[in-house]
Amino acid sequence: MKLADDEKAMLDGAKGKAKQKAMDLLVRYGEALGAERLVNVTNVAGTWNAGSPPMKPFAEKGMDAVFSKFNLDSDEVVETPQAEVYTCQLIHGIDTQNAHVTGVAEEAVNRQKQAERYFGERGVAMFNTCTPYQVGNVPVRGEHCAWMESSAVVYCNSVLGARTNTEGRESTGAASITGKIPYWGYHIPENRLGTHLVDVEIDVDSMMDWGLLGYAIGEIVQEDIPVLDGIRKVPSMIKLKHFGAAGASSGGIEMYHVPGVTPEANTVEDAFGAKKPVARLKYGAAERKVAYDNLNSSAKSADVDFIMLGCPHNSIEQVWTIAKLLDGRKLSPNTQLWVFTPRALRDTAELNGYGDMIRKAGGHLMSDTCPAIGRVMPNGTQVVATDSAKQAHYLPAIMKCQCWFGTVEDCVNAALTGRWQGGLQ
Ligand code: F3S
Repeated sequence: MKLADDEKAMLDGAKGKAKQKAMDLLVRYGEALGAERLVNVTNVAGTWNAGSPPMKPFAEKGMDAVFSKFNLDSDEVVETPQAEVYTCQLIHGIDTQNAHVTGVAEEAVNRQKQAERYFGERGVAMFNTCTPYQVGNVPVRGEHCAWMESSAVVYCNSVLGARTNTEGRESTGAASITGKIPYWGYHIPENRLGTHLVDVEIDVDSMMDWGLLGYAIGEIVQEDIPVLDGIRKVPSMIKLKHFGAAGASSGGIEMYHVPGVTPEANTVEDAFGAKKPVARLKYGAAERKVAYDNLNSSAKSADVDFIMLGCPHNSIEQVWTIAKLLDGRKLSPNTQLWVFTPRALRDTAELNGYGDMIRKAGGHLMSDTCPAIGRVMPNGTQVVATDSAKQAHYLPAIMKCQCWFGTVEDCVNAALTGRWQGGLQ
């Protein structure tokens, strides 16, 4: 790989041991990918946590040992430098304020708190969410980034028009302290053009509609780039975050275009540039029903134990909606309700009284993690309900449970009655 002078200096050790190791990692990574050079990044979203069990022996030697092993892939312990560029922490496994709800041990919580303080002081903004774009990390069109987390990556590329591949913990660790990442994949303009034209023949309006659309398309295009033609109503941020998360679950969508809505395509022609679509797909009532049936295929019992709302992490508007639906009512004694939002929005929700409204009904307002990432659910859970296609896709496989997928109203109703009464409208 061809290196610039500042990159060679880092590789030679002129900027310290950690940056030398980071540059060595990026060069090996770039060469494996066939990248010819690195590109400057100005925005990194990764993970610097220390609460999970494999990190314990390293954390006992100090946070530099955690950083060296898990962020730089180095057995030699090096000092953690300040981040070189704007960097934030994504979702991780522990909600330190709700460990009594999730059953996470105090020792792991304390380790996580130490990590947050240590890496926070070194420039990692502790947003603790899979939706950093909801709480202040909003890269601009064309900005080169290094982000992890599939739902965040697809939002970054498609809705914001910033440029990132789906990075890993080590590459984001190295990118944060060098400001570099291999130049390949979605950093290259021609790789961002559409591949599949999707004729959307029905109205796609509600959040559930957008989840179903994403789930149906992801399954077909896998890692390619769909272009949605026929969208009649401009979708909100909430709907696009659900669409992308669903498409990144049934498939591996990292980028899409909605001509006239997303920034890199005013028209269908823009979306494909000089390329021709490799395939043309239809999305109508039949395809919508197949997606709905697939998402509900694990669910057999209508007796629901656990309701999970907030995947990707809820916006403040979504928390407000849930609080209103619960206001003055009580959960069934047979259910538990966990509502997830980014940590900063949880503070706002508490300020607004939504946290109290949710708790008075018997639910919990939570942040920092989710059942799929934290591998946590209430004890004895067998049947889950969620309004998230992504969570409905992963939970049956990861947590060996049944899972219903529906609207937020269906889910709150299940929390109040203990029964699933949703269906496809
Ligand atoms: Fe976020 Fe967890 Fe869903 S990481 S997108 S809440 S599976």
